[in-house]
Formats: sequence, C-alpha cells, structure tokens
Amino acid sequence: RHLLLLNGANLNLLGKREPHLYGTTTLADIEARLQNTAAKHGIRLTCVQSNHEGVLVDTLGELGLLADENARFDGVIINPAAFTHTSVALRDALMAAGKPFIEVHLSNVHAREPFRSHSYFSDKAVGVICGLGDLGYDMALSWFLRHVYDEV
Ligand code: DQA
Repeated sequence: RHLLLLNGANLNLLGKREPHLYGTTTLADIEARLQNTAAKHGIRLTCVQSNHEGVLVDTLGELGLLADENARFDGVIINPAAFTHTSVALRDALMAAGKPFIEVHLSNVHAREPFRSHSYFSDKAVGVICGLGDLGYDMALSWFLRHVYDEV
C-alpha cells in the first residue's frame, strides 16, 4: 500500500504565495494531514515537491517501474502546478508508470488566464479537482481509499 503525492513548481511557497489564490495552508501542513490519513489506513504516502520537472520524472520512474514490485506505488495524487500547462515529459512518466492518478489544483484554473485551461494531464487522469483549495488533496486521497483500497 503505497501512494505518491507530487507537487510541482512553486508549491513549496504555499501559504505565502498569492494567498488569495492558493490559501494560507502550507505544503508541510497538507503533507502532514494526508500522511496522517494515509497512516490510519496502513498506507505509505511518499511526498515529493520539486521546482525541477526532471526530479518529478525521476521520482515516478524510480518509485514506479524501477522499484521492485512490493515497493511500487499504487497511484499518484499530483498537482503539477505550472508543469500542468507545459510538461509532456511528466505526462509520459505518469503513462509509463501505468497507475491511476488524480490531478489537483488549488485554484479554479478555468477562471484564470486562458493558458491555464489546457492541461497535459486531464485526459489521462482518473479525475481532476480544481478550485477547492487544499481540500482537493484530501478528496483525491478519499478516492484512492474507496476505489483502490476498498475502505470507507
Ligand atoms: C496550480 C495552477 C497552475 O496554473 C499554477 O501554475 C500553479 C498552481 C493550482 O494549484 O491552482 O502553480 O496548479
């Protein structure tokens, strides 16, 4: 039982960064909260944030196909942040892993600049949650609990 929580560029600034758009909760708070929920269900949650696209690609490869079978993750909760709108490499890494993923955005990307409406991920995601702030991450985890682990 292993899930990944991946966060892309600038999400290390959460809490301080444009709080009217992204809220005042820090990424550390969100990660701790989800880890707590996951732990209650005996699930390991590996959390990685990076401002470097390649680090996220490497993480998916190393904890996906390159890891031995027992260590591999069962799914991914990802806020690709700005990489949402740019990254074929990250999309390909998720496809290579071949596991379900949920795309989360804190803000409603469709109510912002037009370039934020396009995502390289949405057509392959199990689902997309946007505009609900950090609650979106909890909802994504709930989906995995119910549909992958048969809990709650
Ligand atoms: C974001 C939306 C993206 O357009 C933006 O580049 C981000 C954060 C969100 O969570 O609302 O960095 O993914």
